[in-house]
Amino acid sequence: MQNIEAYQKSFINYLEDFAVSKEPENLYAPINYILKLGGKRLRPVLTLMTAEVFGVQAKKALDAALSVEVFHNFSLVHDDIMDDAPLRRGQQTVHEKWNINTGILSGDAMLILAYQLFENYEPKIFQSLAKLFSKTALEVCEGQQYDIDFETRNDVTIPEYLKMIEYKTAVLVGAAMKMGAIVAEASEQDQDGIYDFGRYLGIAFQLQDDYLDAFGNPETFGKQVGGDILENKKTYLYLKTLELGTEKEQSSLLNIINNDSISESEKIASVKSLYNSSGASEVTQRAVKDYTNKAFEVLKGLNISEEKKQLLQLFGEQLMNRKV
Ligand code: IPE
Ligand code: IPE
Ligand code: MG
Ligand code: MG
Ligand code: MG
Repeated sequence: MQNIEAYQKSFINYLEDFAVSKEPENLYAPINYILKLGGKRLRPVLTLMTAEVFGVQAKKALDAALSVEVFHNFSLVHDDIMDDAPLRRGQQTVHEKWNINTGILSGDAMLILAYQLFENYEPKIFQSLAKLFSKTALEVCEGQQYDIDFETRNDVTIPEYLKMIEYKTAVLVGAAMKMGAIVAEASEQDQDGIYDFGRYLGIAFQLQDDYLDAFGNPETFGKQVGGDILENKKTYLYLKTLELGTEKEQSSLLNIINNDSISESEKIASVKSLYNSSGASEVTQRAVKDYTNKAFEVLKGLNISEEKKQLLQLFGEQLMNRKV
């Protein structure tokens, strides 16, 4: 096993060679742009690590890791259109730098490129990877649709929210790990175990993403702080404010959300202040820890060495404490 930074490095080296320099320029330039923009590369690192956890060299999993990262970046390009987001990783989003149609088509092409990478595996592994990928990609679409539907609903429940984030975010984290296990030809039981570990980490990850969207440092966060508030996203912070806040706090939140005449910065500041006073921000941070701990419980039951468990646990702890 290597350390997390080493996996990250070998993935980034591999990604460097992936640049697609074909015509038409306006289809491929945005693909290279978003893929080179950086990001934490957490999903491909998980694929590589998992392959080694189950006994094959990480390099055998590089195409699967790349596929997951290309798919993730495709989902971001379309997500930024849907969320009307101006910034990604500290730079202009694809649809801002080019236009919406370019974002749609370059995103589509990335989805196809992601599938195409599985062709580098022998038929048995190819089939398992493709099957998992299709299921996961459809679930991501379902999660994204719930996320959009919830913007205009006022009766979203916490269980509905949890299902939404499981689909839009967590299943891909689980799948990233399961792909490493598939490439390593691990047993079905091991594949499912590691998937569950990743799924719980993914739920914690999205809860933290919601938290940082409101409370991240604008200098370093890389996305527009308060973007979820402007889009009326039904985040954990929002739902918990309606559950835990005083009657006054609850009605203030609903008033602000329905008030079209208030400025963007005022809206963000007032909503954040309600998230704090209601206790929702604290409860959200608690939930990040709880779901990370659920992942660690799953980890305990896996049939792998203590040393490997420790590396995966360290990864989970770093994710939980991230600021970007
Ligand atoms: C952003 O994912 C989208 C979510 C699922 C929250 P990341 O936070 O992993 O984005 P990058 O790849 O590091 O930029
Ligand atoms: C993103 O959720 C989930 C997917 C891209 C599938 P968000 O909309 O919260 O992600 P960010 O905050 O824009 O990265
Ligand atoms: Mg978004
Ligand atoms: Mg979104
Ligand atoms: Mg977000």
